[in-house]
Amino acid sequence: MDINILKGDITTVEAEAFVLFHFEQDDRLLETTAAVNDAVGSIIAQVIEAGDFRGEHLEHLLLYSQGSLKTKRILLMGLGKREEFSAHALREATAQSLRTLRDRRQPRAVLPIPFDGEFPLELSDTAEACVLGGMLGLYQFTELRTRDLDNIKDFDSLIILAQKNSKKLAGPVDRAKAMANGIYLARDLVTLPPNLATPTILAKRVGEVAEQAGVNFHLIDKGEAEKLGMGAFLAVAQGSDEPGLMVVLDYKPSKDDEPPVVLVGKGITFDSGGISIKPAKDMDRMKHDMAGAAAVVGAIQVVAALELPLRVVGLIPFTENLPSGKAYKPGDVIHSLSGLNIEVINTDAEGRMILADALTYAGRYEPQAIVDLATLTGACVVALGDDVAGLMGTDDELLGRLQAAGEESGEKVWPLPLWDSYFKLMKSDVADLKNVDGRKAGAITAAIFLKQFVPDGVPWAHLDIAGCAREEKGKPLVPKGATGMGVHLLVRLLQEWQPLGEDKR
Ligand code: BES
Ligand code: ZN
Ligand code: ZN
Repeated sequence: MDINILKGDITTVEAEAFVLFHFEQDDRLLETTAAVNDAVGSIIAQVIEAGDFRGEHLEHLLLYSQGSLKTKRILLMGLGKREEFSAHALREATAQSLRTLRDRRQPRAVLPIPFDGEFPLELSDTAEACVLGGMLGLYQFTELRTRDLDNIKDFDSLIILAQKNSKKLAGPVDRAKAMANGIYLARDLVTLPPNLATPTILAKRVGEVAEQAGVNFHLIDKGEAEKLGMGAFLAVAQGSDEPGLMVVLDYKPSKDDEPPVVLVGKGITFDSGGISIKPAKDMDRMKHDMAGAAAVVGAIQVVAALELPLRVVGLIPFTENLPSGKAYKPGDVIHSLSGLNIEVINTDAEGRMILADALTYAGRYEPQAIVDLATLTGACVVALGDDVAGLMGTDDELLGRLQAAGEESGEKVWPLPLWDSYFKLMKSDVADLKNVDGRKAGAITAAIFLKQFVPDGVPWAHLDIAGCAREEKGKPLVPKGATGMGVHLLVRLLQEWQPLGEDKR
């Protein structure tokens, strides 16, 4: 989709439709809506007055400009109540608008950017929200289709019509595009089928992304992982003919004197469960088990595009989890990079195994903080549902920042407790700890397992995104399928990054 900022006139601008906004039960029209209303014989005011359009959030109505304007349609979109309005609500409203037009095969829209003093967002935030929302809602994955290509509906052009300050809009529009591209990348990587997204293929693709973004890239292959002693990562990888690969991304800003924030992403390219094999039903969904990895790659691409003044390292263990004659087994004791011996109770708890070594490895960077993202447990979905990530960790300030970032990005994250008393559930009879206890507090026991591998004294947060990596039905900003969960959240966290205080839990 082309996005252009135009300083122009509503009468001469040409597209299939205007996108105009209105707050629920607002006596006043927004200035942008009023300007078009005046040009079309007050039809907008009339439908509102007649009670045919209330302006509820995402309520919409198509009107015709009756020949008085070059753009002949008006898509009137509800923003909901002013008191409940947020950038997220505007992102959703724009997403819904462009999707509606795309479905009608009207692929060019002009959006007069609300600018008046009474609009609750600043002009630059408004432009950013419109572009990001529009792009996210239009996402589709068509790479693997070979038939009926004519039926794929594209959206071609969004014109942001600015009355004044149009110069100020280029920055926010570019920022929104960068964010959307990072989320698109994460969605693409998660959507790719597991035969076309093996550890080798994904590592190569991430290498290309890194090169384009100017981010340092290193691959820890099997030989290096063996030399380092990454026993837990290698144990999971050994069941597959596809070699496991640990990707290291290192974004260094030009002025780089602070220690980095390390992002760790679970990159299981297919989780069959291994010897503790999963039921056949819905097993195909386990191609999504690298959504944490995809979020880290997407976020680092955005961080680099925005040239944030903070070093950010990404650690991504990529492997399949398959059963075979070489696979690790329940009962095996695995010597991890940290030195801790892990008794494998269930090979399907493979995410925590590969993350254990990645978390230990993160210690090399003496980071200011570590954040990991993982589609880790079905138990988290049971606890919080499909749309909410479980949030746990060791540093209240970091956890608070993540929750706040989620509120801004519209990605829901919610805390679960992580008292050390849960660790007694993970004690092993033969080794230092076991990888699984029973079903109780499954999301928390997974996190308490991870905590044992977090380098001493480093603030750490863990997001269990098992539920929210995929969207079942489709929402305005998230078409059905991979969500790209975590990219926006991580970028928000890193955007205004300040060193964490001294208070550690
Ligand atoms: N990848 C799964 C978790 C998962 C489940 C992600 C549902 C997305 C949707 C993970 O590796 C797993 O299999 N976890 C087990 C842990 C159990 C063996 C303790 C689970 O949740 O059942
Ligand atoms: Zn598993
Ligand atoms: Zn898994």
